[in-house]
Amino acid sequence: MSEQVHGDPWPRLLSAAREVMRRAYAPYSRFRVGAAALVDDGRLVVGCNVENAAYGVTLCAECGLVSALHAGGGGRLTDFVCVNGTGEVVMPCGRCRQLLFEHGGADLRLLTASGVRSMAQVMPDAFGPDDLDAG
Ligand code: THU
Repeated sequence: MSEQVHGDPWPRLLSAAREVMRRAYAPYSRFRVGAAALVDDGRLVVGCNVENAAYGVTLCAECGLVSALHAGGGGRLTDFVCVNGTGEVVMPCGRCRQLLFEHGGADLRLLTASGVRSMAQVMPDAFGPDDLDAG
C-alpha cells in the first residue's frame, strides 16, 4: 500500500536507518545497528541498538523502533529495514523478528540482502497474538 501511495519506500528507509545507526550505543560489540520502518499512517519510525555493561540487557535497534512506534501513537509497521555499521542491510535477529511480527504481522515487508521479503517468508508459521485466542 505504502509503495503505491508514496513510491519506492526503500531509499528513504535506508537513509533513515543509516542516519540513526550513527547514534547507536555499542561500546561492547562495536556492532552498530540502525533500523527504520514505515507505519500504516505514513509515519517513519527509527531505532538504534543500545548496549549495557550487563551484556544481556542490550536493546536491539528494533526494540527502540517498536518503542518509538507506540510512543508516537501506535499503528502497524508496513515496511522495515535495518543496517549494520557500514550501512549494509542485515537481517533482524530471531527475537526481533518476533517483535516485528507482533507489530506488522505476516504482511510486513522487509528489505533483505536477497530482496524484499514478507514477514511470512522470513518467519514462517510464526507464533503470534492469534495463537493466544486459540488456546
Ligand atoms: N542487534 C540489533 O540491534 N538488532 C538485531 O537484529 C541483531 C543484533 C545488536 C545487538 C548488539 O548490540 C549488536 O547488534 C551485536 O549483536
